[in-house]
Amino acid sequence: MNEHDSETIAGMLREKGYEKVNAAKDANIVIFNTCSIRENADKRFFGTLGQLKKKKEQEKDGFVVCVCGCMAQQQHIIDTIKQKYSWVDVIFGTHNIHELPELLDNLYNEKKKQISVYPDRDGIVEGLPCERLYKHKSYVNIMYGCNNFCTYCIVPYTRGRERSRKPEDIVNEVKNLVADGVVEIMLLGQNVNSYKGEFSDGTGCDFTDLIYLLNDIEGLERIRFMTSHPKDLSDKLINAFRDCKKLCHYFHLPVQAGSSKVLKEMNRRYTREHYLELVRKLREAAPDIAISTDIIVGFPGETEDEFLETLELCKEVRYDSAFTFLYSVRKGTPAEKREDQVPEAVKHDRFNRLCDVINEISCEKNAEYVGTVQNVLVEGPSKRNSKTYGGRTDTFKLVNFIGSKELIGKTVKVRITGSNTFSLEGEIIND
Ligand code: 5AD
Ligand code: SF4
Repeated sequence: MNEHDSETIAGMLREKGYEKVNAAKDANIVIFNTCSIRENADKRFFGTLGQLKKKKEQEKDGFVVCVCGCMAQQQHIIDTIKQKYSWVDVIFGTHNIHELPELLDNLYNEKKKQISVYPDRDGIVEGLPCERLYKHKSYVNIMYGCNNFCTYCIVPYTRGRERSRKPEDIVNEVKNLVADGVVEIMLLGQNVNSYKGEFSDGTGCDFTDLIYLLNDIEGLERIRFMTSHPKDLSDKLINAFRDCKKLCHYFHLPVQAGSSKVLKEMNRRYTREHYLELVRKLREAAPDIAISTDIIVGFPGETEDEFLETLELCKEVRYDSAFTFLYSVRKGTPAEKREDQVPEAVKHDRFNRLCDVINEISCEKNAEYVGTVQNVLVEGPSKRNSKTYGGRTDTFKLVNFIGSKELIGKTVKVRITGSNTFSLEGEIIND
């Protein structure tokens, strides 16, 4: 979500005549698009921001520093910036991104700091420019905000309430993207399963209806989406994996914890049993589906036995991959107020044990691909070796192989010859 906002910001700046440079030292304007999901992100931001103070002192009005994103939505952060980093020129919130060109004009004309942060927003601003990171694939926002209030999470406070885009607007955007060379889209929303679109004539459109509409767009090859909430994952969507050829066989289904008691305290509104049933149904509909997840260890009050339930669940589901997090206290959330916070050392120990289990399973799952032939959408050269190219299988596995520039954005057949924990190796089959 954040990355896509950055693409929008880059698009707006490009329209205003700015060009991208590679390093902050060469820039006339620096924009920090911040994340608040865990404390680490907060700390890193303040560290990096501080490094610009000297440049600002030297270049004064010739150098503009802006802060936006989820951190800019929180009053205590705005106060810290005002007090300790008073040289920041512009602060704008997640609901005010479209105002950036105007805020910059005001800054230059009025020679005074600009702060624009709405607490929440009803409507959706359509038609903003976007500078895509890739020519052949694109993010597409289908909804904004979150209504779920998981007790550990800051997002509902920084991104506001759920609001869905009109299905026509989404379909038109995707058609335009396809005309511009895009073959793969990633539908974005904090909880795509609760998408509630409405056509201009008032007819409703849920997430699965939207997938069917997009599946019919000629020229589009792959549809992905994230993120799903297990409590809203419907049988209708699971069945779409049987019908929609373009829907990739990959599902990111955050579980967060394996204990029903912890899940209840997290306000996730599903049980361990319900989650396992969803996984069973997904595998029944699409036996080769890859499943990934998010897991938090050390939620307040989590006991060793409850943590062991998380480990057991991972072994039962056999995730292809998982994003694992140490619980991080977020100001203003219900879990912040709990007095039974888990000691750091215990959290770290559980985190390491969880990673070992996850990695071992990822490694075994990847090894199952060796000897198979996969359709791989080529993304680009690897950072380390210019002859090695990377691409993704339908199941989102990263495959490295010897390739060439012309293949970027094309789907090639690759025989998988090797595997490790995080990627596969292969060779292109010329038929
Ligand atoms: N501490 C640790 N992890 C968190 N996440 C969200 N809030 C927190 C927090 N306070 C994780 C969840 C979510 C992912 C995007 O970030 O697992 O799914
Ligand atoms: Fe945060 Fe829960 Fe909303 Fe995800 S569903 S963004 S974890 S509140």
